[in-house]
Order: sequence, then structure tokens, then C-alpha cells
Amino acid sequence: MNEKRIGTKCVQGGYTPGNGEPRQIPIIQSTTFKYATSEEMGKLFDLEASGYFYSRLQNPTCDTVAAKICELEGGSAAMLTCSGQSANFFAVFNLATAGDHIVASSAIYGGTFNLFAVTMAKMGIEFTFVAPDCSEEELEKAFRPNTKAVFGETIANPALRVLDIERFAAAAHAHGVPLIIDNTFATPAHCRPFEWGADIVTHSTTKYMDGHGAAVGGCIVDSGKFDWMAHADKYPGLCTPDESYHGITYAERFGQGGAYITKATAQLMRDLGATPAPQSAFLLNLGLESLHVRMKRHAENGLAVAKFLQNHEKITWVRFPELEGDVDYELAKKYMPDGTCGVVSFGVKGGRKAAEAFMKHLKIAAIETHVADARTCCLHPASATHRQMNDEQLLAAGVSPDLVRYSCGLEDAQDLIEDLAQALDAID
Ligand SMILES: Cc1ncc(COP(=O)(O)O)c(C=O)c1O
Repeated sequence: MNEKRIGTKCVQGGYTPGNGEPRQIPIIQSTTFKYATSEEMGKLFDLEASGYFYSRLQNPTCDTVAAKICELEGGSAAMLTCSGQSANFFAVFNLATAGDHIVASSAIYGGTFNLFAVTMAKMGIEFTFVAPDCSEEELEKAFRPNTKAVFGETIANPALRVLDIERFAAAAHAHGVPLIIDNTFATPAHCRPFEWGADIVTHSTTKYMDGHGAAVGGCIVDSGKFDWMAHADKYPGLCTPDESYHGITYAERFGQGGAYITKATAQLMRDLGATPAPQSAFLLNLGLESLHVRMKRHAENGLAVAKFLQNHEKITWVRFPELEGDVDYELAKKYMPDGTCGVVSFGVKGGRKAAEAFMKHLKIAAIETHVADARTCCLHPASATHRQMNDEQLLAAGVSPDLVRYSCGLEDAQDLIEDLAQALDAID
């Protein structure tokens, strides 16, 4: 049988029940698992047998959902984490340690920027940020001999810059390092970064994947395409024995397809414990079952709202990659021909004050520190998610002080437009 299409994978991926088994994925709400002998359990600890022993490291419900996301992205292995933040932290920390360096796009989520530029910098990992449309020279100059990975977002939150994944993958590979893509906004329903050369994908599943604002979560997927052993000098954590785990060399024992996620599970999850709850994984799976249907509607609503705003006299600028003439229109068509996402950003005439006044008048869209949900919501990033950034950092991240991030939900587009129209009418 042919490989299943994305919609079928959304509904049925990751779980094939046998005769008489539950049709819905079982929630294994258990911290621990029973064994008859210490020898059997010992084999699990030595990673000689696969199985569950403690849910901080692995849980069957979480693994079932990770397997679905792995299928959706076309990866070789995946793991869930308890948040998108922990997914991005683990994705990088699994490769880099004190004294190492990462190249990252400057157009990324403010929380990720803070994680990199402040918290991970304190851990001794340095980051160089480059604009997603930087010149070849600027991109080349960003690399150092100790660079361990390149990081970017498919569609940046909230700047909505589309990353030229092929270009960043080529640069990363020329320097013998993998490209990590946070694919939260596009989701695999609309873009599969591995098909364009990315090596590792991360998600804040809190967003479209869950889609209903029900559970915070994250995911990391490995493509299995990066040859760690060919760059063994750069990745001792994967290519030399892990003394904290019985001297296992992950890349030897688990090969190209399994080493990265096994190390992240056996070492990082063991030590840092950013474990999702089985109940949260179950809720995430409910969201995933309709991801492909919802993403289509989110993107249609996004385009309808963007077109309305584009022609409104009280709006100074609109960013939506599917708008003809948008700076990233061509990249969006190339990487996301079926649509992008439902997030539109724009500036209200009158700047910061006018934006705040306008948002107060919205009746359907709620002001939330959230995005990518079934219910339309909006946010003023400069006074919320990005408030830790100074003006220079804000502009580098593509976030002007007047930027309103408006996340189209699944409501009727005409109702959203009428709501926007009355709120704009209500301000001078
Ligand atoms: C693109 C992106 N990555 C990561 C995160 C962090 O995810 P979480 O809030 O699930 O920790 C977010 C949150 O908004 C995001 O938008």
C-alpha cells in the first residue's frame, strides 16, 4: 500500500489497535511499570531491551502521540516534552554544551530568544542571531569552528517571516552541522521541513497541534538524516561513550535514526524531567486528529482578514505571507503551497496607544498570551511576550512597537471582519 497522505496520518497515525483493543488511544496514567525480575528491569536500564519503567523518561501514551507526530513530519524518531520551551531547549542542549555556539535566525518567538540569549548564554552556550534574509556573507560570517547547529522557525512568531529552509540547510550542512526548525506555526499539515533539508524539527504542540487551548506541550522529531559519526569530533555526546549511561555510545548503538532522540530521552529527560502528562498527550492527540482540516480553515481565515485589513485606512501595514506583494510571498508559495497559518500581524495608525485602544473594542477576538487556537485571539507583543526585549532587539526580531498579532480561529471569516471593522471604527 502507498504511503498514507497527511490527513490519514493525522487521524490514524501512531496507533494501530489490535482485535478487541481500544479504538481511542489508552491513557496509561501510571508513573511506573511492574517487572517480575531485577534482571528484566536491568536490561531496560541498560537500553538492551525496550520497555517502560518510569514515566519521567517514557510513557506509552506519550510515545503513541510522539509516533503520530513523527509520521506527520516524516521523521525517524520523536519524543514529547511538557512544553515548546523544553522542546527547543532539549533540541539544542542535546547537541551543544558550555563553550559551544549556535547560529539562529533573529526572527524567532520571544520566549525562545530569551531562552537562547539569556538562559542558555548563562550556561556557556553562545548564539549568533542572523536576519532570515541576511546576505550570504552575513550568514557565512556567523559560523565558528565551535558552531553545533543552526536554528530557525518556518513561520516566525510573531514577525511572520518565512525561513528559506533550503538555504539555511545548505549553509548548516556546508559547516557540518544540522538545521533545527521550529515548525509550530506551519505544522506538518502545511510544511514538512525534512523535505527541504532540515534535520530536526521542534514544536510547541500547545498551538495548532493541540488547537483548542487545552494542554501545554512540545515535541522534538529527528529526521534520521544527519550523519553524527561523520562529524564525531563535533558531537562527543552522541559519538563517544556516555559514562552516565553505562558507557553507551548512542550513535553506534542506535544508529543515525535513533541516536539523537534516545540520548535526549535517556540523558536529558532523565536528568531534567520535562515530562508531559499522559492526559495531556491524549488531549494533544484529539487535536492532531483534525489538524489538517483546521489548518486549512485557519489559513483561509488568515487570508480573508489580511485582505480586509490591507485596504483599511486605519491600518498602516499588514503582514501575512500569503498576501500578494508580501515580502515573503514567494517563500510562502514555495514552502507552503496549501496555505500558511491563521496568524496575521499589522500596525494600527497611531502606533502603540491606538493598537491598545483598538484591541479593547474587539468583541470576538480575546486578548490572550496565546496564538494558534480554535478561538480568535490577539496580542500586543511589545507589551507582553516580547517585553523583555529592548527596541533594537524588537526590530531585529521583526516586532515593531505597534505590531498587533491577530490569530484567526475557526469562526466565520465574515464575523471576524465585522468585529475588526467595528473596533477600528470605534477609535479615532
Ligand atoms: C514558535 C514557538 N516556539 C515555541 C514556543 C514555546 O512553546 P510553549 O509555550 O508551549 O512552551 C512558542 C510559544 O508561543 C512558539 O510560538
